[in-house]
Amino acid sequence: MLTRSQVEKIIVVNGPNLGRLGVREPEIYGSATLEDLRSACVQWGQELGVHVEVRQSDDEADVIRWMHQAVDEKTPIVLNPAAFTHYSYGLADAAAQVTDMHIPLIEVHISNPSARESFRKHSVISPIATGTITGMGFYGYKLALEAIVHALEA
Ligand code: DQA
Repeated sequence: MLTRSQVEKIIVVNGPNLGRLGVREPEIYGSATLEDLRSACVQWGQELGVHVEVRQSDDEADVIRWMHQAVDEKTPIVLNPAAFTHYSYGLADAAAQVTDMHIPLIEVHISNPSARESFRKHSVISPIATGTITGMGFYGYKLALEAIVHALEA
């Protein structure tokens, strides 16, 4: 089991269309941008005493590669898989390698997908995630960072 002293950083990975935060459906995702999310996560990391790196890609291959990197470098992950949540078995298999190594991976959604269209109600990531936080806006990322630090200290 990974412990707090072995962890130098946490990576926050965001999937497709999350680079459009602030512009895309602000009534659902809010008016803050990915840059705002980045600064908030870095700040929350500082408060927790851990370096936080925020990434985003619309390309499934990038997101899968970052999971492999997390396994090789033993880096905990906060993952908003965005639409990949609902159908990407490739990403689910990659994310499973992270949690199989007992490295925490928290799934986060800004909105509450269960309260939206039916295709959003199913997540292929939830069964392999350490835990899932939905519907809390950007604050969900803070909760996820805290949950990872808590899990590492437990
Ligand atoms: C999302 C929810 C997904 O259903 C959607 O495809 C997204 C964002 C969220 O953060 O609420 O792109 O993951």
